[in-house]
Amino acid sequence: MNHLLSIEQLTGDEIAHLVNRAVDLKKNRKSSPQVLTGQTWALIFNKSSTRTRVSFEVGIRELGGSPMFLSGSEMQLGRGEPVKDTARVLGRMVDGAVIRTYAQQDVVDFAHYSKLPTINALTDDEHPCQILADLQTMQERLGGWKGKRVCFLGDGDCNVARSWIWASARLGFELVIGAPKAFQPAESFMSGVPGNTVRVEADAAKAVSGCDVVYTDVWVSMGKEAESAERIDILRPYQINEQLMSHANNGAVIMHCLPAYRGKEITDSVMEAHADVIFDEAENRLHAQKAVIVELMRARA
Ligand code: CP
Repeated sequence: MNHLLSIEQLTGDEIAHLVNRAVDLKKNRKSSPQVLTGQTWALIFNKSSTRTRVSFEVGIRELGGSPMFLSGSEMQLGRGEPVKDTARVLGRMVDGAVIRTYAQQDVVDFAHYSKLPTINALTDDEHPCQILADLQTMQERLGGWKGKRVCFLGDGDCNVARSWIWASARLGFELVIGAPKAFQPAESFMSGVPGNTVRVEADAAKAVSGCDVVYTDVWVSMGKEAESAERIDILRPYQINEQLMSHANNGAVIMHCLPAYRGKEITDSVMEAHADVIFDEAENRLHAQKAVIVELMRARA
């Protein structure tokens, strides 16, 4: 593995290996391998972040390196300098890059032109670091994903949903996308997903029925603010609340990639009742991303 650009590009074995490595790094946090000694990693963010930025800054330090946070809007990138030129400059100065931006192609181009180990920290297409942390949480809470059924509720065509779809295809667990017609995964996307592990269901109660994990994400993703009122109106039946959860399996786990908007995609009472898992999931961003970096360094050794 030379980069982490998507879940799509990983094999099932690679995903499982990263999750196991993340669990191990979490157990042995005080003795993290110093694989980044003497290295500086650039964190280029074109969008807001709390979890991703903090977990990468802390994780890079714990692995012995130095993070350098760069806001895209304050770089020449924000004034139109091409990604490939920025990449070639940084490739001569830093040792690795973490990028949060819009177009997946920009992350792909950055990796190509910089020749640096490059990590996708969220694009319009995927959020691979999030899904690795989510799978780690499933491993800890449910003993893994084999034979489990996950339901993703809400905007089923967003980056997090797409990474879940690839995880299901690669690992073989059942995934139900519970979404109204307007927010179901695009047919052009689904036609490229192998296997038959993913089902799309418009009825929210049917979608969560028999599920071991019920998952949601913010209804108004970054960049979609102009559609806010319309999205909230259409997605309201997909809110995670006590009534909807009565259709899921007993003991079903609720996960949320955060930030959460209480009263929208999840009620305050359900969020608080499942806070232990949800904030484990947030913490696991740190461990999963450290696992990714350790593997990237191993591949380059
Ligand atoms: N889940 C997630 O990526 O959180 P941030 O936007 O705060 O980084």
